[in-house]
Amino acid sequence: MTKQSVSNTVTSLGDLRYWYQRIEVDGEVTPVFNKGMAESPFYNQGKWEHFIKPLIPFAPEGRSFVECGCNAGLFLLLAAEMGFSQVLGLEGDDAWYKQACFILNHYQAREPELYRSVSLAHTRIGKAGEGASKSCTIESSCLRKEWSSLPSADLTLLANVLYWIDRESAARYITELAHASEYCIVVSVNGSYPLGGPCSREEICHAFKKDWEEVQGISPPPLNTGERGRDMFSILFRSRFVSSHYIKKVSAQRTEL
Ligand SMILES: C[S@@+](CC[C@H](N)C(=O)[O-])C[C@H]1O[C@@H](n2cnc3c(N)ncnc32)[C@H](O)[C@@H]1O
Repeated sequence: MTKQSVSNTVTSLGDLRYWYQRIEVDGEVTPVFNKGMAESPFYNQGKWEHFIKPLIPFAPEGRSFVECGCNAGLFLLLAAEMGFSQVLGLEGDDAWYKQACFILNHYQAREPELYRSVSLAHTRIGKAGEGASKSCTIESSCLRKEWSSLPSADLTLLANVLYWIDRESAARYITELAHASEYCIVVSVNGSYPLGGPCSREEICHAFKKDWEEVQGISPPPLNTGERGRDMFSILFRSRFVSSHYIKKVSAQRTEL
């Protein structure tokens, strides 16, 4: 693809639905809807550095990473760069899924080895068109993910997505996920959406209490900024049901000896 056609594609994908994530493409960055917010320490690379990466509880080699609500796929790229062996993004919104496909194809064409482990699924958790509010509702023509086929993972990331999912499905997802993923990092903000899943710290801790154990949390780091993201926090949970894949692998190897 020539630089001009890459640039035209970025523009047309942004016309389908605004670019939420700021991602470098061919020396330029995606034209995000709110530049101030996107460049703040609370979104994009900043969200990863301050709220996600410090909570990753193991070395990524040999491990799998799943993100539900991956948007254009920024955190999938960063997980692959960090060394996760399998990386999967689930995205329910039609336009944002297209953005993610374009970004992933672009990075895989540029550095096939580095991003080989990344894949995408156009799938939705819960009902279509029943987000927490008008601005937190996806446009989704894909199939709803069956609870019995949630992808298994060493770590699942739910970054600012639970409150987009209808309340009933979000509660079920948290329960079912405890049988598919050993760890879960939740990033959220201290708001409340009556129609959506848990949002505030209190709501999230309550929703995870039965099937997950809280390991560690991060409240806004002491950064010198007045951005709206200052309400952001993240929590690492460990499933009460899924034992470490690593321990399983090691003991299987020992048995073979
Ligand atoms: C606020 S954005 C967060 C994106 C990314 N996780 C981040 O933190 O930068 C929420 C994302 O979740 C996706 N999403 C919302 N509801 C979903 C659902 N029910 N199933 C799958 N994806 C969903 C949206 O389409 C959107 O890309």
